[in-house]
Amino acid sequence: MTDTSVKAGQRPSLSFFEDMHPPAADFRADILAGLSKPQKALPPKYYYDEEGSRLFDAITEQPEYYVTGTELELLRAIGPQIRALAGRGAVVLEPGAGSSVKIRTLLDALDGPAAYVGMDISGEHVRSACEALAADFPALEIGALCHDFTQSLDVDALPLSPGARSGKRIVFFPGSTIGNFELIDALALLKTLRGWLREGDALLIGADMRKAGSTLEAAYDDEAGITAAFNLNLIARINQELGGNIDSGSLQYRAFWNPYRSRVEMYLVAVKDMRFTVGGQPFVLRKDETIHMENSHKFTIDTFQDLAAKAGLQARKAWVSQGEAFSMHWLEPSGEAC
Ligand code: AVJ
Repeated sequence: MTDTSVKAGQRPSLSFFEDMHPPAADFRADILAGLSKPQKALPPKYYYDEEGSRLFDAITEQPEYYVTGTELELLRAIGPQIRALAGRGAVVLEPGAGSSVKIRTLLDALDGPAAYVGMDISGEHVRSACEALAADFPALEIGALCHDFTQSLDVDALPLSPGARSGKRIVFFPGSTIGNFELIDALALLKTLRGWLREGDALLIGADMRKAGSTLEAAYDDEAGITAAFNLNLIARINQELGGNIDSGSLQYRAFWNPYRSRVEMYLVAVKDMRFTVGGQPFVLRKDETIHMENSHKFTIDTFQDLAAKAGLQARKAWVSQGEAFSMHWLEPSGEAC
């Protein structure tokens, strides 16, 4: 046995840090391409710079944004059931880093988890998130991976201890992040995550549920204007980093519930004709024209399980929060993906 306890003042150590060299994102090219489309669109993955991450945390504390609080409450309530399904010595893999209260809640619920592997596209972020976790779980084997979760991963090749190799793998994907992808991309992502699992392993995933449009539109356009600020922050980032001159005062944030596609669609709307340049390129935005910012798909138990089944993941158990606002799913690899 190695002594993994943390001494006072010592940096909590990770079992490993590996850089899988995810393909570098090209902010400039992606933004220019998005602004050049007939329906202008900005990729939501660029929301999360330092200020964007701070604003997102503030969104989760808005009274209208029920998502985070409801999921956490549900996770706490089903802890004993998850513990039973996972068994002793599980290995938790988390695409998207694990600094949050959710991963701590899961690890607390589990029966002697053997290891935790956090992953994120930002090496800095995942390293510090995993080190913070290591300070709270000194007996746990913790590894950090700089990795893009839309890419395949050979979990067998990770430098886990022999003890950790035999535990059940649980891929933990909370937050209904799956809902931010177009359905075709969500399916591809589920197939990718399925590829990390062996028979008997599981994907524990959160999915926000369909509900009244008024509730959803309020959740994505809060009274305090934090979600609006979160969207306008990406405009500020474009102006700063790409030498843009977009007048954010002429853009108004709007969230619409689209029942046909079962998703909340988020836009910035021009309140008047606008001309601006980004990276030296000129753009025109007419009055009432929109920039599409993000989608957040909402599911029923059936629509989510159908999607999972198409990815070769069979529903073993689904849990629904009080008021049927949010769902968590325990999915296991089955047969073949189509
Ligand atoms: C990324 C899934 C956590 O869609 O609910 C929240 C992102 N955007 N408010 C969501 C988001 C605006 C959020 N998640």
